[in-house]
This record gives sequence, C-alpha cells and structure tokens, in this order.
Amino acid sequence: MTKIGILLSGRGSNFEAIAESVAAGRIDAGIVVVISNRADAAGLESARARGLKAVCLPSKGLDRAVYDRSVVAELRKHGVDLVCLAGFLRLLTGEFVRAFPERILNIHPSLLPAFPGLDAQHQALTHGVKVSGCTVHFVDEQLDAGPIVLQATVPVLDEDTVESLSARILVEEHRIYTEAIQVVATGKYRIEGRRVLLG
Ligand code: GAR
Repeated sequence: MTKIGILLSGRGSNFEAIAESVAAGRIDAGIVVVISNRADAAGLESARARGLKAVCLPSKGLDRAVYDRSVVAELRKHGVDLVCLAGFLRLLTGEFVRAFPERILNIHPSLLPAFPGLDAQHQALTHGVKVSGCTVHFVDEQLDAGPIVLQATVPVLDEDTVESLSARILVEEHRIYTEAIQVVATGKYRIEGRRVLLG
C-alpha cells in the first residue's frame, strides 16, 4: 500500500481532510509521517491526536539544501513513496524534487497557472477574476508549475472578501485533494508532456 508523507506549515485542514479520507477508505494508502517546519503548526498537534507519527523539523536559519536533505531523510526513514504538501509554505530544492520524481503532490488555492505563490486568493480578488478555484498538481522544480492532476472552480462574488473566497475554495481543496491522491495512489493516470490523463 502507498505510504504517504505529509508536509505542512500551519493549520493543517487539508491534512485533516486527507486523514479523514484515509480513515474512511476513500484513499487506498496510509499516512506514515506528518512533518512540519514549524513547531507551532496546529496540524502537528492534530496529527499526534490521531495517533500518527508527527515530526517537527525546524527550518529557521538553515540553508535550504541542508534543510531539504533532512526532510528527505526523514521521509525515507518511514518508507514514504508519495509526498503530499498540505500548506507547506516552502519552495522545494531540485534535489528534493528529484528524490521523489512525480511522487510529490501540492494543493494550491487558485486555478493555476493563474496566481502562483503566496496569497493566491488575494491575488485573484484584486485581479478581478469572476471564477477562481484550486489545483492539485505534481511538484517540479518551478513554483506551483508541475502537471495538473485535478482542478475545481468556484465563483467569485461581488461581496467576497479574501476570507469568504478562501473559505469557498477550501471546501473544494478538501474534496479534490482526496480524489487526486486516490488517482495517484492507485496509479490510474499517465503523464504525457504536461498533461495528466486520468483513467
Ligand atoms: C491552503 O489553502 C493551501 O491551498 C494553501 O495554504 C492553505 C493551507 O491550509 N497553499 C498554498 O498557498 C501553497 N502555495 P491548511 O493548512 O488548512 O491545509
């Protein structure tokens, strides 16, 4: 069975959704380790409460290459074969990406390639788009740029704030991250160029 390693930096609601889906049998995989670069990440505490292995590897002040090597080592220690970024707010080094080729997924709160990087929902609102959403994609060496597994759309309403738009997107994040992980964990896809063909 696929062994998932989760990386997170904060609240961890996507991690929670994934953990619920694993427990409910919607994802044929197990979560073998949850790693955070921040000791105060709420997601670490909820991982512990679920009885999962939760590890804090503080990134502050460390060289990116050195830090990423330590994360790869921790993932390997637990036999991880699918890495899921769940609000892990760091750009991975090429060395990290190459350690898990086409085995790292990320969730991003916009319809990529629109609005990569930080504060995607704020970017979408200020740009004035009428539709936004979220994207699950494979991670490559560029920021928020790898082949797209699934996307979901939500309307942007005239009265939206960053908070209300983020909340609407988050519901879809939780739904499609589970679906995308199940697709990848069960191998029901192939990659042709930038296209991820499902089924
Ligand atoms: C989510 O909205 C996720 O899409 C976003 O951070 C939030 C984490 O929430 N990720 C990015 O912006 C990555 N560029 P969570 O900790 O509750 O899952």
